[in-house]
Amino acid sequence: MFQAFTITSGKGGVGKTTLTVNLGISLALLNRETCILDADIGMANMALILGMDEVPVTLHEVLAGKADIEDAVYEGPAGVKVVPSGISLQGFQQADPDKLRDVMHKLVDQCEFLLIDAPSGISKEGVVPLSVADQVILVVNPELASMADALKTKILCEVMGGNVYGAILNRAGQEHTELRSQSVEDVLGVRVIDVVPEDASVRRAAAYKTPCVLKYPNTDASRAFRRIAAQMSGVEYKEETGDPGQEGFVDRLARAVFR
Ligand SMILES: Nc1ncnc2c1ncn2[C@@H]1O[C@H](COP(=O)(O)OP(=O)(O)OP(=O)(O)O)[C@@H](O)[C@H]1O
Ligand SMILES: [Mg+2]
Repeated sequence: MFQAFTITSGKGGVGKTTLTVNLGISLALLNRETCILDADIGMANMALILGMDEVPVTLHEVLAGKADIEDAVYEGPAGVKVVPSGISLQGFQQADPDKLRDVMHKLVDQCEFLLIDAPSGISKEGVVPLSVADQVILVVNPELASMADALKTKILCEVMGGNVYGAILNRAGQEHTELRSQSVEDVLGVRVIDVVPEDASVRRAAAYKTPCVLKYPNTDASRAFRRIAAQMSGVEYKEETGDPGQEGFVDRLARAVFR
């Protein structure tokens, strides 16, 4: 089973951070020791999404050689471990992306799954995460610009010696003009792991600084996040049955929130 996944896209704003956070929490709810790492060191927003933007030590200090990675790991929702990046420009300037490989190796020793939220674009800090993880997940939206950038990222990943696990088609809707899974597979030459629908609950949850899978567990997007997490961890995906004898997702969620 693979441990470290980089979640990337090429194009910005397609849902990398949303997926990293919601998949990380879904894996934690499957009782997998999971760590999510914000490698978008220039435009970090995982901490903002999780309401953790005032933590004293972040990945910036670690990549600047000023702190150990252990000091930048925080407990997030449902027990997921979170390594946020800082939001200051000075912190970004001092961070050395080449140190990411070391950081990743140390984190992998401490968890079953490591999800790395990569920056968009093909800057150095965008490229390093492509080769450090065991597997790369390409996030695409159902439109051509997103596909073109994902294709470039896939090629770059292969050049860097990385492996592509598959693509996630995020924000899929009902528009007849938009691209479908089959086109994504044809163009990118990778399998579509799953499709996450365009779902207003994702944006609404972000406004509450609470990830969708926790705030709105019964929406289609949250179901998709849990389905993907189940696939990544090699377990069969089951929806809640309401069977009183079996601890289900809602029970685990309540346990995680109130512990
Ligand atoms: N399935 C979805 N349905 C509705 N809105 C979504 C969905 N996925 C993501 N979004 C919204 O799209 C916006 C961009 O998402 P996100 O920040 O995760 O993208 P990103 O790829 O990390 O962006 P960046 O490249 O800037 O880091 C956010 O407002 C998020 O709430
Ligand atoms: Mg992001």
